[in-house]
Amino acid sequence: MNQDEQIKQAAQIVSKAKNIVAFTGAGTSVESGIPPFRGKGGIWNKYDPDSLDIDFYYNHTKESWKVIREVFYNFFNNNDIKPNKGHYILAKWEKEGRLMSVITQNIDNLHAIAGNKTIYEFHGNSARFVCTKCGAKIKSDKVEITEDPPICKKCGGLLKPDFIFFGEGIPQDAYFNSVQAAKHCDVFIIIGTSGQVSPANMIPGIAKSHGATIIEINREPSAYTDRITDIYIEGKSGEILEAIDGLITR
Ligand code: APR
Repeated sequence: MNQDEQIKQAAQIVSKAKNIVAFTGAGTSVESGIPPFRGKGGIWNKYDPDSLDIDFYYNHTKESWKVIREVFYNFFNNNDIKPNKGHYILAKWEKEGRLMSVITQNIDNLHAIAGNKTIYEFHGNSARFVCTKCGAKIKSDKVEITEDPPICKKCGGLLKPDFIFFGEGIPQDAYFNSVQAAKHCDVFIIIGTSGQVSPANMIPGIAKSHGATIIEINREPSAYTDRITDIYIEGKSGEILEAIDGLITR
């Protein structure tokens, strides 16, 4: 089946779907200018993932913060990072009542900015900090980002970006809601994720085993493609989602 036929088939499925769930990874934000973690131009080709290990953050805070600040805060502040058309299509599908939720591994907050309301942040969100001492949550635009690790104004404790470091557990509510969403959807769209990281990479399999049709959009095959994907469409997520959206019967 060529790509046009795949897009047409995906549009027919999306048109009839009652309860779509989107499962997004870093590839969804590449057209917004954010590099992926793996593959060509990946963040982990340039930086050591250990900088995002939770024990490393506590024991080598200055060193870890230097990377975190550069990759997640300076990069955002120095570049005009905005949602791309793929994010806006998912927000439109939620408004139309066809998409129930987005389960995202991304911490860039772009789904929320694009307008989606039901978002399960599997790996947290860089738009918030949490105090490691008193637990206070602070919006990142209220935290002064300098070369020194951020400190809580309330108790003087070390602040940590409210996203999940390696070695940390997944937020309970995000995990539970994601599993429920995967179990009850009829169409599950995997967008821009390599499927390398657990336990996030178990969620698509739950949707599959509960009878969902799996549509996958990626630049290249992933760990899901040969295993659970029903329709694999190769291309940039924003472009493919726009093409599907243009063929939906409303
Ligand atoms: N459109 C669609 N897919 C794309 C695009 C694009 N424009 N550009 C890249 N991709 C695909 C790549 O082919 C790859 O399969 O996006 C995927 C990105 O994979 P990763 O960089 O591994 O990102 P992700 O799967 O989200 O990583 C999961 O790993 O480091 C941790 O916590 C981090 O949430 C992240 C998790």
